[in-house]
Amino acid sequence: MGKRIVVKFGGALITKKDEQSVAHTDIISNLCSVVKSITEEGIQVIIVHGAGSFGHLKAKHWRLNEGYLPDYEQSDEECLSQLDAVEHVRNDMLKLNSIVLSQLTDVGLNPISHPPHEWASNLGPEFNGTLERFASEDVNTVHVSFGDVVDVDDERKFGILSGDDIVARLSIELSGVESLVFAMGGVDGLLKVPPHLATVDDLIEEWSPEVAYEGVHQTEIDVTGGIGLKMTRGYLVAKNGVSVHLINGEYPMRILDFVRGKTWRGTTILP
Ligand code: IPE
Repeated sequence: MGKRIVVKFGGALITKKDEQSVAHTDIISNLCSVVKSITEEGIQVIIVHGAGSFGHLKAKHWRLNEGYLPDYEQSDEECLSQLDAVEHVRNDMLKLNSIVLSQLTDVGLNPISHPPHEWASNLGPEFNGTLERFASEDVNTVHVSFGDVVDVDDERKFGILSGDDIVARLSIELSGVESLVFAMGGVDGLLKVPPHLATVDDLIEEWSPEVAYEGVHQTEIDVTGGIGLKMTRGYLVAKNGVSVHLINGEYPMRILDFVRGKTWRGTTILP
């Protein structure tokens, strides 16, 4: 059984969060170089990326996180209905996904994409969908998935499946996963106070649920769970024996330092 690591590229890291469908291609490219270096250590990398401005803005505008709203009438120059918006967001996510895939190919890896709306349904950490498609362990193969709009088996019809739920199941259920890394944008890990108030001393290096922190959740633009969801899912994974870490993805060498057992800056979630 080979060694594996699951890495979540946060949407706020790889996109400009407030401008529709703008990707930080330079950051994605640096992350992919680090992924390549990790594979050179003999470790297979599984990537799940977030949505950022390719998902949250339209999903929020069309209230897709609330599911199907029969009385919700709206239209804009792009979409005529919520169902139309579901298709648009899925296509936007495929565009962001194709940027990640092409950067992985550029560094010499073999990415395989698994768009959730094709194989997953229902929401939360127990969403439906088997993970067999992620089974192949060749170190050059990088399985890639992402947060998406998926079908829901009740009157909601659809909903938003966060990449944080996907990484939790992958880390717990796939064989050989040693670590889960959340690569984040704009922060060195979990902070005691909201990022705009934080100094270098406010990094929480080790977190478990009794350690207090004051996160901000931008509910006006974010349709999934923000930092709170990450910590809850991260703790679930840590309790299952996989090491879980939050690292600033703008300094991707820190991820490599962690993998190589060197000193690195970030947060570890304790089981
Ligand atoms: C959200 O996924 C998916 C959509 C809004 C379509 P995530 O919860 O994984 O995304 P980020 O990391 O917050 O952007």
